[in-house]
Formats: sequence, structure tokens, C-alpha cells
Amino acid sequence: MNRGIALEMARITEAAAVMSGRWVGRGNKLAADAAATTAMRDTLNGMEIDGTVVIGEGEMDEAPMLYIGERLGLGGLKLDIAVDPLEGTTICANGTNGAIATIAMAPPGGFLHAPDMYMDKIITGPAGHGAVDISKSAGENALLLARSKGCDVRDLTIVLLNRPRHKKAIDELRNVGSRIQLIEDGDVAPAVATGIEGSGIDMVLGIGGAPEGVLTAAAVRCFGGFMQGRLVFTSDEEKDRARSMGIDALDQTYSADELAKGEVFFAATGVTNGDLVRGVRYFAGGARTHTVVMRSASRTIRFIETLHYFDYKPGYTAEA
Ligand code: FBP
Repeated sequence: MNRGIALEMARITEAAAVMSGRWVGRGNKLAADAAATTAMRDTLNGMEIDGTVVIGEGEMDEAPMLYIGERLGLGGLKLDIAVDPLEGTTICANGTNGAIATIAMAPPGGFLHAPDMYMDKIITGPAGHGAVDISKSAGENALLLARSKGCDVRDLTIVLLNRPRHKKAIDELRNVGSRIQLIEDGDVAPAVATGIEGSGIDMVLGIGGAPEGVLTAAAVRCFGGFMQGRLVFTSDEEKDRARSMGIDALDQTYSADELAKGEVFFAATGVTNGDLVRGVRYFAGGARTHTVVMRSASRTIRFIETLHYFDYKPGYTAEA
């Protein structure tokens, strides 16, 4: 694939972050999400690609934009697209840490068509290979990762969503003595941070969204990290939905390579501050964004700080 796509992707997530960033702390997650989705869609439609949304905002009848199956772009390179225009809508509405605008691209057929349901996940940087495994307990995985990294388990930081379903894992991690960060929402950004040396995040564990799992897998492929995910069904109807999306082995444990195949690209721009990227900072007549862009073929990880001047980008003005 054309490596120039990486920069184009930064433009997409920057636009979504600048537009949704105006809603930070205003208590309206739907408006924040709509702003990000519109900006992302408009930018994608200006690109010379023939893109199809495979992970999006929902089915055609329930999501007006960036629905699964929506075709985007002016024509050109055929791509499958996974989007989460605003990952962490509640975070954005509350103005707390960790909201991002994110997108991934793969050759056609590259992404698992994950239904909007839960996935149990384990994500680490490269040190997790040959060490951790989703079938092991949280405590065991912490000890194995510490050994593989050559550090004390008490110096690891492990991120989990702050949910009752994670109580057992949290208790086990506290027993082995690892540091824990409980987040209220937004498990993609910390998962991606596991692959960034010095980010301070070593592992993400537990049950979160399956579409978020596919986006995460694209990033994991780009930094050679370790990931396993398996779908978690809460009803027979969810099982039927998975089957209708082409998933037959319902109990399969997927690796990152199975969730996001071929040459993939990943980009994320901070909406609010976080361990991965900083949030949007507005100034008179403009805004500054912080983005990470990755490509699996080269494993290059680029951090891009961008200054946007609204006089020259009319679509970015507050009134737009
Ligand atoms: P949003 O859809 O509001 O952006 O929330 C995203 C998220 O927090 C994900 O990061 C996470 O994987 C999932 O929701 C967790 O789901 P739940 O809140 O049902 O535990």
C-alpha cells in the first residue's frame, strides 16, 4: 500500500479531534461523537481511495454516518476501514483523560468483522510474546510479563476498565503487587501505549468492546506487540449476530494477526490528554494537535504535533 496514506490518516484523526474537542466537558457525548464522525467522514471523502467501512458507528439503519458497509473516498486504492471517531465519548463529555479519535486501514478483507459486543483482551508490547496468555490468570500474566521484561512485578503498570466484572483480576493483580490503573472508559489508547517505550503502560487486560479490539489489533501489528482476544457473548441473539457477520468459531481466541491482517495503518489523535497522546489545545485562531501514526510494513511509529490555523481551514472554525 502507499505509505503516504499514513499522513493522510493523521489528517483524518486531527480533523475529528479538533471538532469533537470543542465538546470536551460539556456533558453532551452524542454531540461530541457527531462532530468527530462528520469531520472524519468529510476528510475521508476527500481522499483518493475506494474505502469500505467494516468497523464503524453501527449498522446502516442505526448510524447515519460511517455505518458498516459505507463506501468512502473519491475512488482509487481499495481499502477496508475501521473507525472510532471518538473513542471514549463519556470521557470527552466529562473532560477527563484518555479520549482519542482513531482510525485503521487494511487491504480488503484485512479486518475481522467484529460485531458490536464484548471481547476479552490481553495486550502487551513485544515482551508479551512467548510469555503471557489469555488462558492464564491475571496474576500469573503479570508475573510472566515482569520476568520477560526483566523487571520487578511491582514496577509494572496494568490497565483495566473499572468494572465489577474485573474484580477477580484486580484482586489477583493487587496480590502479586503490580501497579494498576483503573480507567472509566477508553481501552484503545492504553492498549496502544503498551507498545510505546516509556509510556509507562505495560499491559491492558479484561473485557471491553470488540470493535475497539480490532482497532487495537491494527496498532499492535504496527509495533510487534502481543494481543489475544475472544468474543464474549451475553445472549443467543449476539451469537446469531456474530454468525451473520461470518464468525463461525464463536469460542476462537484471535491473535493480532487474525484480527487485522496484511499491511495495516493506524492513527490516533488525542481529544483529551492521555498516556498515549496529548489532547487538543486551542489558541486564538487555531489549535494544536498530537497524533500517533503507525504502519505495520515498516513498524515506524511517528508522533506528529500539528498547528492548525482556522483562517486557512474554514472547516475547523467553531461555527462550522
Ligand atoms: P464509547 O463507545 O462511549 O466511546 O466507550 C468506549 C468504551 O469505553 C471502550 O473503550 C471499551 O472497550 C468499552 O466502551 C467498554 O464497554 P462498557 O462501558 O460496556 O464496559
